[in-house]
Amino acid sequence: MAFPLHRPRRLRSTPALRRLVAETDLRPRHLVLPMFVKEGAGEPVPIASMPGVVQHSRDSLRKAATEAVAAGVGGLMLFGVPERRDATGSAGVDPDGVLNVALRDVSAEVGDTTVLMADTCLDEFTDHGHCGLLDADGRVDNDATLAVYAEMAVAQAEAGAHLVGPSGMMDGQVGVIREALDAAGHLDTGILAYTAKYSSAFYGPFREAVESQLQGDRKTYQQDGANVREALRELALDLEEGADLVMVKPALAYLDVLRAVAETADVPVAAYQVSGEYAMVEAAAANGWLDRDRTVLETLTSIRRAGADIVLTYWATEVAGRLTIE
Ligand code: PBG
Repeated sequence: MAFPLHRPRRLRSTPALRRLVAETDLRPRHLVLPMFVKEGAGEPVPIASMPGVVQHSRDSLRKAATEAVAAGVGGLMLFGVPERRDATGSAGVDPDGVLNVALRDVSAEVGDTTVLMADTCLDEFTDHGHCGLLDADGRVDNDATLAVYAEMAVAQAEAGAHLVGPSGMMDGQVGVIREALDAAGHLDTGILAYTAKYSSAFYGPFREAVESQLQGDRKTYQQDGANVREALRELALDLEEGADLVMVKPALAYLDVLRAVAETADVPVAAYQVSGEYAMVEAAAANGWLDRDRTVLETLTSIRRAGADIVLTYWATEVAGRLTIE
């Protein structure tokens, strides 16, 4: 008998064979582009720790949104950087607040040709940088925060968001938002729930991007990186409360969580390749230590392979463009 009998390498022998048997597909529609818009900016402002990513002006946001849609991305996720912050994050609820204005701008520009999403969280808007309101002792007050999230989600739906994305990890956030959207007649506005959001060092560059005022950490509301069972509990609650899609975040350091959530969820699953994942690859590539383009595709394919239907990534437009040509 010839040896070896089994030759898995046979299916790797030409590019066409490899393409034929690829188990995981990465298409432009799988990618969602997170975008920042800065109130009062006349020009786009570069973000030092995220080379290639900017805080957009209203004009440059519209243009970049159009380009992303033309490249075929599945959706856009907007974050606002306000000029003024206060204890309750009131600019997040204000229809004239930077994020709501940006949603109306982008909605007018690209309409239903893409899926427009909004970050539904207070950290960009509060002067203390926390994702919720603080009580008299300086602790994040879960239930007081819920009322503001509900108002914020309705304002975002009214500004044109197809999906709202509660990212603050308050207990009950999906339920109150669903109730508020329904009561306001926004039955078709969906909820992309940040189901398993970990307290992560990989959010570092994002904090620069939104000029976060946070001192300390978010460990009393974001999850502990040691836990996966807890993510499944969060998943069950979000589904019960009416989440239309669920998300795991960050992505690369939590692929096992993503896999576990994808195996259990009966709704589409998203993963957020966060700012630190982006910065890590860009920094190594800038030093000539990694092949940037190959590394980027490998990370995105890995996130899809682990079970993500949708990947939020700052490389969305670029990669979508590359995938369309290939
Ligand atoms: C909170 C929020 C954060 C990110 C998305 N939404 C930051 C945080 O939790 O501190 C991080 C995204 C990234 O790092 O790319 N509104």
